[in-house]
Amino acid sequence: MRHLSTLYALMLCGLTVLLLAECKHDPAIKPAGNGSNDTLYTSTPYTFEQTGGGIYSYRRVKVPDDNLESYEGIRLGRMLFYDSTLSINRQVSCGSCHKQEHSFGDDQKLSQNVHGPTKRNASTLVNLGINSIFFWDGRQATIETAVDDALTHEQSPDMSSLFTYLDTTPVYKYLFGKAFGKPEGNAPLVTEDKIVKAIAQFIRTLRAENSRYDRYNRGQSDANLTASELNGMNIFFDQQKGDCVHCHMDAPYLTLANVNVPMRNNALDRADSTYNFADIGYGQVTGQMSDYGKFKIPALRNVEVSAPYMHDGRFTTLEQVVDHYASYDSLRKSPTVDPLMERLVYPNIPDLTVQEKSDLVAFLKTLTDTAFLHNPDFSNPFHH
Ligand code: HEC
Ligand code: HEC
Repeated sequence: MRHLSTLYALMLCGLTVLLLAECKHDPAIKPAGNGSNDTLYTSTPYTFEQTGGGIYSYRRVKVPDDNLESYEGIRLGRMLFYDSTLSINRQVSCGSCHKQEHSFGDDQKLSQNVHGPTKRNASTLVNLGINSIFFWDGRQATIETAVDDALTHEQSPDMSSLFTYLDTTPVYKYLFGKAFGKPEGNAPLVTEDKIVKAIAQFIRTLRAENSRYDRYNRGQSDANLTASELNGMNIFFDQQKGDCVHCHMDAPYLTLANVNVPMRNNALDRADSTYNFADIGYGQVTGQMSDYGKFKIPALRNVEVSAPYMHDGRFTTLEQVVDHYASYDSLRKSPTVDPLMERLVYPNIPDLTVQEKSDLVAFLKTLTDTAFLHNPDFSNPFHH
């Protein structure tokens, strides 16, 4: 309710003040212009900066032709992301479970949606623009359909009263008009499709590529890794040691997840047959026995702040995660376990030592992009 009352307080201050207040962090967003129809319905295009360049650039971000970004669309998406009016009980927003300080994941093992606890741990939302499969079980293929899925299942808003609310709130009315243009004829200004598209635009801006590891990789002089972190990095890449690289690395190094073959079984659960998995994951989506027990490889970016870990939030610390991978004995066999879980295939690979495990954890902590976690453009616009 707090979000709501803040919103009304802001509305009382008047549309212009609200627009100006929100413009503070984003100079390219202009308040309502001279009131001509054109200014009211023409959006301001937005293009991604190519930070870093080369393989570190964000060039692989997939922007669908029917949802090109605009400043107004992104701003609208940010407001909708944080507005709990988008839920049946008006208490749950995307931001209730996807918390910026936790890389847009949740520090709770399971979150509370409008029906009760969620089935799985809330995913982080970072650099999703280069992903082509969404949710732990891979049930959606675009950010737009993933947003619609999340909105429907976690928040179940009453659409007709939501449309009325958005249509009669001046700032929303203004932003829908700007972002998506003047509706033709009697077509409504606010639709579920536009709500979803705006939130998807905002999610595509949630990019983190400035961790100490990124800066080190770009050869920036301010970013030196310690001996322990460098050793951890080698363990991460070394097939005879951590061998994390095969699953947790993509070509532009942005997500630290393999985005090409993202659905895998990393030996979390013992199962004598495919029927024994507590959660069959991807198998539910494809119906294939060979996909039972497989889950989406999550981004390791900001992993320092996104505990608890794994689809069910079973591990509370990075030390526990690393312990899971560090020895033959801790890995659990099942029919679909990934052949890249090398310790299971080659049991003579030595366990990681205490020192190696702590170096690996130190390396994982270099993946934190602190500016992302505090970027005011991503923060709750209703809490000024
Ligand atoms: C009640 C908590 C909750 C709310 C509210 C919520 N989510 Fe989520 N979100 C989750 C959980 C839990 C998952 C993982 C679910 C799964 O994989 O089965 C998830 C996963 C996602 C993913 C997939 C990320 C990936 O890496 O594949 C996206 C995208 C997402 N949510 C966006 C949103 C948006 C947008 C909203 C608001 C419209 C929202 N969520 C509201 C809990 C929540
Ligand atoms: C065979 C592929 C594979 C390998 C190799 C692998 N992982 Fe994973 N990793 C996954 C998958 C899949 C998940 C998600 C599993 C789930 O939740 O069911 C995961 C999850 C994680 C998570 C949890 C992240 C989160 O947000 O919940 C961390 C941390 C992690 N892995 C680190 C590592 C490290 C460190 C190594 C090397 C020692 C490694 N992984 C090796 C596939 C792999």
